[in-house]
Amino acid sequence: MKKKILITWPLPDAVMARARTSYDVIAHGDSPKITIEELLDTAKKVDALLITLNEKCRKDVIEKMPDNIKCISTFSIGFDHIDLHACKARSIKVGNAPHGVTVATAEIAMLLLLGSARRASEGERMLRSRKWPGWQPLQLVGQRLDGKKLGIYGFGKIGQALAQRARGFDMDIHYYDIFRQPPEKENALGVTYHDTLDSLLKISQFLSINAPSTPETRGFFNKAVIEKMPQGAVVVNTARGDLVNDADLIAALKSGRLSYAGLDVFAGEPAINEGYYDLPNTFLFPHLGSAAIEARNQMGFEALDNIDAFFAGKEMPFKLN
Ligand code: DGY
Repeated sequence: MKKKILITWPLPDAVMARARTSYDVIAHGDSPKITIEELLDTAKKVDALLITLNEKCRKDVIEKMPDNIKCISTFSIGFDHIDLHACKARSIKVGNAPHGVTVATAEIAMLLLLGSARRASEGERMLRSRKWPGWQPLQLVGQRLDGKKLGIYGFGKIGQALAQRARGFDMDIHYYDIFRQPPEKENALGVTYHDTLDSLLKISQFLSINAPSTPETRGFFNKAVIEKMPQGAVVVNTARGDLVNDADLIAALKSGRLSYAGLDVFAGEPAINEGYYDLPNTFLFPHLGSAAIEARNQMGFEALDNIDAFFAGKEMPFKLN
């Protein structure tokens, strides 16, 4: 008999097809989205959960998880929505989908860098509002990326993939991470290492946030950090919204201390800080990082690989605990 799994959102066809070949699938729709109460209730009828970053599995939720659930796999690289300690205490194995997102998210970071430098959304808004007066020498003048210093904070797979792409735009690429890459990797990517975040901030005309959301990183991008950056610097964030102190970023964008922000992720999304909506010097996306079919397929396959391994009595290939 097939094992039963709950999939909390519709996933790409190829992923659903593979899931249905191996499992008896309870698939929740996206409208209305699954509530935590429904998740806990349906969990009683299944053997494993395939969730997304929308399902906040904090301590209180994990403590209420029925005893039959010993496997949770998340369709995301990020796992800040799951309390791993609470899962461990309940002997629940957890896995994520760490590779599929890499290129797609680096592309969105590159798009945010370009769009912020060249004021893409301001141009689009001017055109769509039917207020374009025609070409003008000083209209929406931005800046080029070539020769500019790009600081990458968080040099995992996505940070590295961004470095590769930014090289194509002739940027001068620097990074800070608690783990330094071997010299061969640094040479191949053409990147310069900084052994402190402060040192990176000081030179970053453009800063890309690519670090995970952890107790250490949450809220790190605040007034004090902004003050360490060059006047008029640009920040882009494709990691997690809660790394940024929104009030401080908005104040810096209003005063001109920072010239632009390109943001794909927001604290409390989709209810983003109201202050962003009317700021002209922002380029905003609704968490599009991994929204490419190649990425979403791979994410689904990786999430299923974890579940397959769990039922085969093996270690999850992308285990988190
Ligand atoms: C992830 O996988 O954590 C991404 O944020 C989804 O786009």
